[in-house]
Amino acid sequence: TASQIVLGLETSCDETAAAVVRLGADGHVEVLSSTVASQIAAHAPYGGVVPEIAARAHVESIDAIAGEALKTAGLGYGDLTGVAATAGPGLVGGVMVGLSFGKAVALARGLPLIAVNHLEGHAVSARLGADIPYPFLLLLVSGGHCQLLSVDGVGACRRLGTTIDDAAGEAFDKIAKTLGLPYPGGPALEALAEGGQPERFPLPRMLLGRKDCDFSFSGLKTAAARLAEGLTSDVDRRDLAASVQTAIAGQLCERSDRAMAAYAIEHEGRGLRFVVAGGVAANRTVRARLEATAKGRGFSFTAPPLAYCTDNAAMIALAGAERLALGQADPLDAPARPRWPL
Ligand code: KG4
Ligand code: ZN
Repeated sequence: TASQIVLGLETSCDETAAAVVRLGADGHVEVLSSTVASQIAAHAPYGGVVPEIAARAHVESIDAIAGEALKTAGLGYGDLTGVAATAGPGLVGGVMVGLSFGKAVALARGLPLIAVNHLEGHAVSARLGADIPYPFLLLLVSGGHCQLLSVDGVGACRRLGTTIDDAAGEAFDKIAKTLGLPYPGGPALEALAEGGQPERFPLPRMLLGRKDCDFSFSGLKTAAARLAEGLTSDVDRRDLAASVQTAIAGQLCERSDRAMAAYAIEHEGRGLRFVVAGGVAANRTVRARLEATAKGRGFSFTAPPLAYCTDNAAMIALAGAERLALGQADPLDAPARPRWPL
């Protein structure tokens, strides 16, 4: 197969993003550009993402962001071999903006369109920064998702576990709110926790000992909210933030450890690789604890570069390029899918 040069478009939540990625015939991955326009400031007054504001902001900036991504890559639309756009899951108004833009480019330039599942983008994101071959065990932890997946290739994922209530990022965001921190709560909570005492506040260890790979954060959220009410000093708030961060990291490790044990048996004698991806993978405590867990099970550990943990278009472009290399593409009437499980 020839090399692929794909424009990726991501508009499923609160970032308008475009990127150009080259996937060589030898499988080598090169990010030629990755542009992200964050809408955080527009949503911050509301304490969360407002779908209508998000959709309008995507409409206003998608053309310029895509143009910037091509300019930075030193390419024009004529140099592309394909266009990949997030087609779901996510806020449907936003998804439609990026997907429609991608369809227009594909139609105008006679290029193949790849309608990419946002989760599949996160699943391949670690391959943007390191040469990780398939298969690998993936922990996907973002604002909307918390899953353990056995990944054999693009489009070949098997789910080993998922959350039965909130996603890990959602837990970070909601608990951060009760601590009076601004949206998005995850990075703010990590900053507050700096230097805090993680053993100070006892928090429930959810699903401990349960014989599957599912997650649950609702009990932790309730307990943290109750503790937050009684706090008066900044030191208290700092220690609670540290305790919460450690509790979330602890559950991610405990469930991942179970999944690694099962995965290792299935993949005996082959290279054991553990990958973490998604916004929560940007958290340094989470990364460090998961790395130690992986080492303990004889797995290599990989996390994407920080810029590719949170939403970006390079991961969408790469997922599209990998599909194109397999000879796959989608029709121009591919629908936007608000729900789309992997
Ligand atoms: O992957 P992402 O950008 O969007 C989704 O697809 O959901 O993930 C966003 C989530 C938010 O919940 C955010 O608070 C969380 O990732 N997050 C973090 C950190 N950076 C982002 N959580 C904890 N610590 C961080 N440093
Ligand atoms: Zn995401």
